[in-house]
Amino acid sequence: MNHACAIYPGSFDPVTNGHLDLIERGVKMFDHLIVAVLRNAEKEPLFSVAERVEMLRDVTSHFPTVEVDVFEGLLVDYARQRGAGVILRGIRAISDYEYELQMALMNRKLEPALETVFMMPALSYGFLSARLVREIARLGGPLKGMVPPQVETRLRAKVA
Ligand code: PNS
Repeated sequence: MNHACAIYPGSFDPVTNGHLDLIERGVKMFDHLIVAVLRNAEKEPLFSVAERVEMLRDVTSHFPTVEVDVFEGLLVDYARQRGAGVILRGIRAISDYEYELQMALMNRKLEPALETVFMMPALSYGFLSARLVREIARLGGPLKGMVPPQVETRLRAKVA
């Protein structure tokens, strides 16, 4: 498993400026960054997997080392399959830590060769989450600075 290749997994429903901030930081640290969208049959997303992938590709097209992909099943199996040695996750606040620690330790139990690396997004994105962005969009609130302009356009169209 290659530690120069990292997977940044998530739901990305939709991609926010906080995700993009983390991708930018990941690009500086890893030779190859795979942004992996989970296909989760249990969750009811606002955007389809295809829409989420399209938006992610659109907003990361200027990063030659970033690849956007879809995975299902266990993240550790996908990491093995892709030969990635690192899982990249963002931590905004202490409230994220418990869930992230649990996932990281469980992933380590499932695959000891895989390391989880946590990075903090810029402080200004500490309050931002895709869930709140979806809620603000549904209620017609302002999204300036929270998502890329093309994502805002698609959000407005989706909830209209
Ligand atoms: O953006 P999210 O919803 O916080 O991302 C969660 C994600 C996709 C990282 C997590 O749910 C995941 O890895 N799911 C894949 C299934 C899996 O491996 N589960 C065991 C995790 S310990």
